[in-house]
Amino acid sequence: MNETNTNRRHFLKLTAATGAAVGLASTVGRAGAQAAASPAKPGDLLIYQDGAKKGQPVKLADLKVGVAVWAAVADPATKQPRDAAKGGVVIVKLASGKVKASSKPNALGDVVAYSALCTHQGCPTKEIGSLGQGKGNIICTCHGSIFDPGDNAKVLGGPAPRRLAALPLKKDDSGQLVAKAAFTGKVGS
Ligand code: FES
Repeated sequence: MNETNTNRRHFLKLTAATGAAVGLASTVGRAGAQAAASPAKPGDLLIYQDGAKKGQPVKLADLKVGVAVWAAVADPATKQPRDAAKGGVVIVKLASGKVKASSKPNALGDVVAYSALCTHQGCPTKEIGSLGQGKGNIICTCHGSIFDPGDNAKVLGGPAPRRLAALPLKKDDSGQLVAKAAFTGKVGS
């Protein structure tokens, strides 16, 4: 998939995407539920999950405001994802001043990262909303849950029972994003 298609996918309209994806929920949700114990260890690298940079470390300087990056958590020794089925993380660079107090302990400046697995039935979140309540927020298209990346992934709408688990961030000497600690809560449903 080229970069243009990837960006378009990330900015699909919530209203259209929600309805189209409902039928996928039962199958994808089961896979996500199995991944509920996703590990991440302090010092783990974050590497791109797809696109032209797939497999490369995510660098702080590469991130653009409002454009989410989906990344895998990788063992720093082997550079391999710890488990491809775990769903990885969604990384969002917010506009200046948009990181609220609830997110600041885990943020790296204006950048936040959360488990990409929805807390409803474990679907992988794959969208940043472009309309209405979803605008600028992380969307799970399976059943329309909405999470606020600037407020520690607080649930803004939909059936999700709790926030996405945050992944505390830091950067290494070369500007690569690294997990500062394990996920702050349960991953997935
Ligand atoms: S799995 Fe149902 S809203 Fe995400």
